Amino acid sequence: SAAVQVDHDNGLAHVFGYPEAFTAITETTDFSSDLSKLVPRNREFDVFAEGNFINLDPPRHDRLRGLVSKAFTPKMIAQLEPRITEITDDLIGQVGDEFDLVDALAYPLPVIVIAELLGIPTSDLPVFRRWADALLSQQTGELDQEQIEHALAQVEPIMREMNEYLLEHIRARRADPGDDLISGLTAAETDGRTLTDGEIIGFAGLLLIAGHITTTALLGNSIQLMDEHPDIAEQLHADRGLVPQAIEEFLRFRSPFPRLSRRTTRELTLGDVRIPQDCIVFPWLASANRDPRRFEEPDTVDIHRTPNHHLAFGKGIHFCIGAPLARLEAKVALNRLLDRYRSIDVTGGEFFDAATMAAAKQLPVLAT
Ligand code: HEM
Repeated sequence: SAAVQVDHDNGLAHVFGYPEAFTAITETTDFSSDLSKLVPRNREFDVFAEGNFINLDPPRHDRLRGLVSKAFTPKMIAQLEPRITEITDDLIGQVGDEFDLVDALAYPLPVIVIAELLGIPTSDLPVFRRWADALLSQQTGELDQEQIEHALAQVEPIMREMNEYLLEHIRARRADPGDDLISGLTAAETDGRTLTDGEIIGFAGLLLIAGHITTTALLGNSIQLMDEHPDIAEQLHADRGLVPQAIEEFLRFRSPFPRLSRRTTRELTLGDVRIPQDCIVFPWLASANRDPRRFEEPDTVDIHRTPNHHLAFGKGIHFCIGAPLARLEAKVALNRLLDRYRSIDVTGGEFFDAATMAAAKQLPVLAT
């Protein structure tokens, strides 16, 4: 089957089809998000810290997510719109006609928003960027045991630095709570106990990294796709009501996270293909979102595609908790850019490895 391919030598399975990827993402009993059984753990602080529930299965996942999602209701996120607009205006107020879209807006906007939510200083932005760049550059397309060991050795000092930074802030907020998310988490209770420092570190770190790289990607991809398809930019100028559905189509067509990872908990069959137990499974969102069995003319960017059941934010119990925030940031940013500029021409660019992240590192533009 072209939808599922197993690499028996390396214990990997690639899942390309939409229904097959959907199953691998949502059937959490067969497909675990906890890869720590296959990936060597790093003693003291590791990438799989306790609160990092993207890598946990039920019931622990559900308990932690339940706590955190109280701070991430669509209603609470919607209240951030005026502040997101203000930050966007501040940022684009500082540039002329020629600027780097990532440096000027796509990177700082989501990071400032998440830092303010967490209650950590936005003046540390350059530090967060260094961490994010280091963590991302270590994710390779292949995953044999030796490469995993190597990757972990590379990220360990960065993780340690980030965790220590967060720990300091958690301790400060425990002593002197504010109305930020970290303070909220120090007070939150689950199973009749409060969260440990390790759990809060894991979650805050997850938000800080996962929460900004992806939105940066979405903004860059949106500007790039509008540059590649001037008719779309025209339509959005004419009717701003189309912006949200254009964003969904940009997410489908160029999904920031091209693939997720799971582990098979037993030998099973997916799309008529047998996959052994303890295989690392890669559901490729980028391919599933172009599956002709699910999307008509999948390789066409069609902003009128509604409904648009893309998988760019995942599906099921791990569905992106930040999706309402990412959508809001993208909507505000695109609207403000459309307000200010008649056209934005992309004049160059530097990109992440496409198998890791569909995102620009640099995106110089000429905006008039
Ligand atoms: C989960 C994508 C923005 C926080 C996910 C997942 C995807 C995803 C595909 C599912 C992972 C899986 O099933 O293994 C994206 C994209 C974004 C974005 C494409 C932007 C365009 C954000 C933002 C935040 C965030 C802004 C936080 C502020 C999270 C968290 C999870 C998650 C905490 C874990 C949820 C769970 O395991 O229950 N995201 N994300 N994401 N995302 Fe996002």
